[in-house]
Amino acid sequence: ATLYAVVPAAGVGKRMGGALPKQYLPLHGRPILSHTLSCLLSHPRVAQVIVAVGPDDEYFSDLPEAADPRLTRVTGGAERADSVRLALQAVAAEDAWALVHDAARPCLRHEDIDRLLAQCGEQGAILASPVRDTMKRAGGDGCIDHTVERAQLWHALTPQLFPAGALHRALCEAEQQGASITDEASAMERQGWQPRLVSGRPDNIKVTHPDDLRLAQLFLA
Ligand code: C5P
Repeated sequence: ATLYAVVPAAGVGKRMGGALPKQYLPLHGRPILSHTLSCLLSHPRVAQVIVAVGPDDEYFSDLPEAADPRLTRVTGGAERADSVRLALQAVAAEDAWALVHDAARPCLRHEDIDRLLAQCGEQGAILASPVRDTMKRAGGDGCIDHTVERAQLWHALTPQLFPAGALHRALCEAEQQGASITDEASAMERQGWQPRLVSGRPDNIKVTHPDDLRLAQLFLA
């Protein structure tokens, strides 16, 4: 099947605090999004990359990857799930699979994509990492309500891999029902799918806060 990479890159990066959207912050001399795109474009299985950028994006066209003929740019939406849904509209082939990866995860490596592709079942799969810390649920008063059993908890990472058509339909339905969707798997779970958890490298972090940028710098060094 044809493999499309879908990259939501239409966020404004409020938690980073700067004027420049976080996907364009420099990391070893080029924007975060440039690292992300070059990893996907250079993977031998990825046929095409669809990037969802903000409606007022002024930076995308300056990326070294922007002129790549295998790259398609679309306008994203208000939430991450809207951006992914709009990008999937550009996927033509009915038997295609979509590999959805956050723009803000520039430390992705081919071996992570390879493991996800190798271990993916018919119901899709996501990269994830087991929770390492003890987990607490907070009560209303800022105190601990109780400790959550950690053994079965995982952090959901990206990429997440699903049949493109089924994912598009799941995201459309979630949107119509007003469901809050923060990753692709949750849209599929609502449809009764049971995506597989595939162990991902812990350095595939999402750059959210300024400290994450320093970590990403180290991981990419
Ligand atoms: O905000 P958060 O870090 O969860 O965003 C994850 C990814 O989703 C980022 O790469 C961001 O650019 C993207 N995003 C998007 N459209 C939005 C909000 C976020 O493509 N409306």
